[in-house]
Amino acid sequence: MRKIILTGDRPTGRLHIGHYVGSLRRRVELQNSGEFDEINIMIADAQALTDNFDNPGKVRENIMEVAIDYLSCGIDPEKTTILIQSQIPELTELTFYYADLVTVARLQRNPTVKTEVGMRGFGASIPVGFFTYPISQAADITAFRATTVPAGEDQEPMIEQTREIVRSFNRIYGCDTLVEPEIMLPPNQASMRLPGTDGKEKMSKSLGNCIYLSDPAAEVKKKVMSMYTDPDHLRVEDPGKLEGNTVFTYLDAFCRDEYFAEYAPEYANLQEMKDHYVRGGLGDVKVKKFLNNVLQETLEPIRKKRAELEKDIPYVYEVLRKGTAAAEEKAARTLDEVRHDMMIDYFSGDEWLVSQEKKFAEKRAAADAADVRVQRQRAAEARKKAKAGAGQN
Ligand code: TRP
Repeated sequence: MRKIILTGDRPTGRLHIGHYVGSLRRRVELQNSGEFDEINIMIADAQALTDNFDNPGKVRENIMEVAIDYLSCGIDPEKTTILIQSQIPELTELTFYYADLVTVARLQRNPTVKTEVGMRGFGASIPVGFFTYPISQAADITAFRATTVPAGEDQEPMIEQTREIVRSFNRIYGCDTLVEPEIMLPPNQASMRLPGTDGKEKMSKSLGNCIYLSDPAAEVKKKVMSMYTDPDHLRVEDPGKLEGNTVFTYLDAFCRDEYFAEYAPEYANLQEMKDHYVRGGLGDVKVKKFLNNVLQETLEPIRKKRAELEKDIPYVYEVLRKGTAAAEEKAARTLDEVRHDMMIDYFSGDEWLVSQEKKFAEKRAAADAADVRVQRQRAAEARKKAKAGAGQN
């Protein structure tokens, strides 16, 4: 079986370094590994609209930002198809048919939907579109026959629900059209969920605790220098704590041994630096300066690429347009099969026309034959009557 990746993001903001360690870096590795036959990355604008329908301008603007972020990080449109979800109507149609196979109770049990409904304060007035987005995501994944969905653990319930839809569909319609996908989780803990610069659980725009891939160098430095560390580490000589210390969490995610020779040659690796911090005698400012250097090493090439791309927006536009067109062809092939399986392919080929013509012709023939029988019977009766009448005379 062909190995096909589908993954995606909601375009509700520029991408930050949490996205980078959590998914972008991995996608580029997967793209360049040569292990996959096909890689698709979806900008899920229709899904973003399920809770931003009253702010379509935000979604529209961020599609370009996210596309530039992808390309800046090394997503190569020769190897990876970047597509815009809403421009592929086949996905909407699949969603509508899959909705037949999912119960309201099953959607209500989806833990990610539950959490998100709570976070957004929808209360009892959950928009139907939002409530049913797991079905739409199943359409996204299955339309491309994805075998592999690289995503965070918050997406596990979505993939599980997709697998259920696939199994129901193939069983009910007696086919093997749809492919059951597997989730591919980030490889290590540090990549799972990068905390914000304030040490809060998650990097998020509304908390104002993000370092964006598109932040200028000075902005990154400013954010790093004011990061949350160990609140009890007041003087340099005090012993420091690593747990919950955001600066070290970031180093876990970004640091490579070779950075020490250049930026902190007194240590051979991160462990030695951590040991010193825990012992006491290593100040926060020094660690932050080191982290700033590490981040700049990572972000500088991305910023450079971004600057080039920003000067050539028509190029990015073409990448999106071509990617979406190529993706639509793939989705259309799956939809054709789905329509066939669900017996709603009336106008493809003449099978339906011929079968209906035949059915009605047979019906007519049967009716005609019945008519003939009735007429013969009547004629026979008339003859009988006539004979009987002649006998009486
Ligand atoms: N739900 C995903 C998120 O919130 C985005 C997404 C949409 C997605 N369609 C997808 C992810 C398909 C993987 C596969 O991040």
